Amino acid sequence: MWSLGVTLGRILIEQQDQAREGNGEFTMLLSQIATAAKIISNEMRRAGLAGLTGSTGEVNVQGEVVKKLDQLTNSVFVQVMEDSRLVCQVVSEEMEEALNVGGNCAGRQYSVLVDPLDGSSNADINGVTGTIFSVYRRLDPTAEGTSGEDLLRKGSEQVAAGYVMYGPSTILVYTSGEGVNGFTLEPSVGEFILSHQDIRMPTRGTMYAINHGNRAHWFPSTEKLVDHFSQLDDSTHRPYSQRWVGSLTADFHRILLEGGLYLYPGDKRRPCGKLRLLYECAPLAWVAEQAGGKASTGKERILDIQPTELHQRVPLIIGSQEDVAMAERFLQKEIAATET
Ligand code: AHG
Ligand code: MN
Ligand code: MN
Repeated sequence: MWSLGVTLGRILIEQQDQAREGNGEFTMLLSQIATAAKIISNEMRRAGLAGLTGSTGEVNVQGEVVKKLDQLTNSVFVQVMEDSRLVCQVVSEEMEEALNVGGNCAGRQYSVLVDPLDGSSNADINGVTGTIFSVYRRLDPTAEGTSGEDLLRKGSEQVAAGYVMYGPSTILVYTSGEGVNGFTLEPSVGEFILSHQDIRMPTRGTMYAINHGNRAHWFPSTEKLVDHFSQLDDSTHRPYSQRWVGSLTADFHRILLEGGLYLYPGDKRRPCGKLRLLYECAPLAWVAEQAGGKASTGKERILDIQPTELHQRVPLIIGSQEDVAMAERFLQKEIAATET
């Protein structure tokens, strides 16, 4: 059992010296992200009664229908980042361009990238959703003006990454390079309390998550891999069970705690998959690795990819070390075949 006294605020201060970034401004920024999470959590809880469900009628830069809650959560997150006075630019799934929230930015140390509402198709049915975030230190925090180079960075350069899951309870999970901790929001006092200390992902699981509805578009290697999951083999605990919440945050959270793997591979229709590198794949990849797991496109480590565009998509295979390595062995055969 955890103690109500061990709050996110206390852990942030205790870990200030161990984090990749260890300073008061960084601690304040993470605490501001937690504030955004509390506000969004509250909005999600009252959405059904407050007329906040449904679409705006617009389509975003990704070509996806914009939900009212996509817009609301984006506005909340951006406003809290602006008010923090710690951030130069915010990149969001819901905004075509990076938004400058830091004036001339001189002295602003950080850039933040966010998927404000992940799994938004669940929002209208009171299903589980999330917020995924990633923090980078600006290449030159004293520089005036903004630079694209501050944003198109490899995931291996992140200084904080994590997610908030809005489920039966609201849980914030993050890393700043010293392992992974999870905090559950105690709504009556508005505090995130340490509930999952030093999370370690099982090296192998018995569950896989993939959208089978895409089967007609899959490459043959993906079909073979999924067939492999459903074969009988006691020694590897197959068949695996299949799970699909439709929210990466929720599917990843299950795998982080219980093991297995999540896949959104490239397919014939979308060779780069569906998920976005900078604010979905890279932050969760760092969380996975910090918990002893693995994240890959099937071909390369997610954290080693040099981004070329803000909303770039990449295939994602993430989860337990051995399960992801096994998936890579299947998928690499396909990659080798298409490259020759
Ligand atoms: P978002 O709501 O931010 O656009 O992300 C949705 C993503 C991810 O959360 C989820 O795992 C996946 O899309 C679901 O895709 P399908 O529509 O193929 O189920
Ligand atoms: Mn998403
Ligand atoms: Mn989203």
